[in-house]
Amino acid sequence: MILFVLVFISLVPNKFPFYFHEHHKVLRPNSVAELRKTIKGRELAVIVFGAKRCRHSNHLEHIVNELPQYFNKSNVVILSLDCRSENFTKYCADNNINKFPTMKMVYLGIHMKTEYRGQRKVEAIKSYIDKLVDNEIPILDDIDKLIEVRADNNHRCVIGFFSSTKNDVFQNFKKVSGIFHEQCYFYAFINDVQQLPVIAVRDSALGDEIFTGKQDINNIYQWVRDNCKPLVPEMTFDNAEEFIEQQKPLLILYRNISDMESVNQFTKVVNSEIKDLLPGSITAIHVDGSAFRNALRFANLTVEDLPLIQIDTFKTHYTFGNFTEILYSGKLRTFVKNSIESSRSGLYDDGRKSIFSRLKPSSKRYSFVEEFTKKDEL
Ligand SMILES: *[C@@H]1O[C@H](CO)[C@@H](O)[C@H](O)[C@H]1NC(C)=O
Ligand SMILES: *[C@@H]1O[C@H](CO)[C@@H](O)[C@H](O)[C@H]1NC(C)=O
Ligand SMILES: *[C@@H]1O[C@H](CO)[C@@H](O)[C@H](O)[C@H]1NC(C)=O
Ligand SMILES: *[C@@H]1O[C@H](CO)[C@@H](O)[C@H](O)[C@H]1NC(C)=O
Ligand SMILES: *[C@@H]1O[C@H](CO)[C@@H](O)[C@H](O)[C@H]1NC(C)=O
Repeated sequence: MILFVLVFISLVPNKFPFYFHEHHKVLRPNSVAELRKTIKGRELAVIVFGAKRCRHSNHLEHIVNELPQYFNKSNVVILSLDCRSENFTKYCADNNINKFPTMKMVYLGIHMKTEYRGQRKVEAIKSYIDKLVDNEIPILDDIDKLIEVRADNNHRCVIGFFSSTKNDVFQNFKKVSGIFHEQCYFYAFINDVQQLPVIAVRDSALGDEIFTGKQDINNIYQWVRDNCKPLVPEMTFDNAEEFIEQQKPLLILYRNISDMESVNQFTKVVNSEIKDLLPGSITAIHVDGSAFRNALRFANLTVEDLPLIQIDTFKTHYTFGNFTEILYSGKLRTFVKNSIESSRSGLYDDGRKSIFSRLKPSSKRYSFVEEFTKKDEL
């Protein structure tokens, strides 16, 4: 009897659910040529850059193994590669991989700059992919709705104006909206008038920007990539890694969550005074002061002091005296320059340790390339 049960169990496929796209597995190319061949013609390739014997990579591997069954392999493939294999050393370096695992996407042949930094759970990754390949754009079909969207100062909106959803440019716009679904809000306004399509991004601080290039997918992609990210984006705990990872001094506006006015003022001043320092020398962001109140407390400040501006150089931090004074021409620039200079010289007070250096990509999630080269046993 026991023997019978054992035989029976061994006959049952061990992967559930096996009913959808069977025999579709994570692909493990062993050369760049093979990788390129696999990606070619696919709508989306998800590439997991990992390293053998890295426990974080192994953990993610178990999760991504569950993914292929949910997708049609003619459209979506999941690939995993070992950056420590000689065949991929150069490819990984070319893709700026400095930590394992890193998950990147190639969508419609475009290597996306952003990486997947969400939760390492089957559901979360699946839903990210679903949004990417089949993003639905809310359709605005009357002027009132358009006015309402334009009045929303809290979100970066990209609005496409089309005569019909059958339009090719609408289809391109829809695809691009999937790529940037985490960064911006997308809307389509459908109305049968002349001179369409038009694509524009709404910026409450600096005014609208209209796309004037050729309306093919590559040009729309590049324009949206450059314009959908505001000059001063919001940092939250969910997206912090991306800003912190660059280790460029952070210029931070702490604001009351309902106070967009100070964000707009700050953005205008950043635009007029220190735009040349972005993004090469500093990163300018705004945060909800209440969510980041521990960071404020660290500097002996509270939400009573909002709005306020700080610079954190990852060594030390400085607070800008009085928010209203950013309106005095040159003040913010001087503050930024002096702070960076003083931090570089090392002549600062130890009581003002960096606050944000503690938010670096976590060794609980990643192994870093430098560590691998230092000690080989990871
Ligand atoms: C590296 O690529 C070559 C083909 O270009 C292949 O024959 C070889 O097996 C690969 N090496 C590894 C370790 O996968
Ligand atoms: C998978 O996608 C291809 C190409 O779009 C299509 O021809 C095929 O019917 C799809 N298969 C399934 C199972 O959906
Ligand atoms: C934020 O502003 C609102 C409205 O002005 C106010 O009611 C609230 O108390 C403020 N919150 C903080 C943390 O200051
Ligand atoms: C905060 O207050 C404490 C105690 O008064 C002081 O030791 C520390 O230097 C202060 N920190 C800052 C950043 O002002
Ligand atoms: C901040 O600066 C403005 C303009 O110089 C001034 O009117 C205001 O009183 C200052 N606020 C504080 C708290 O010092």
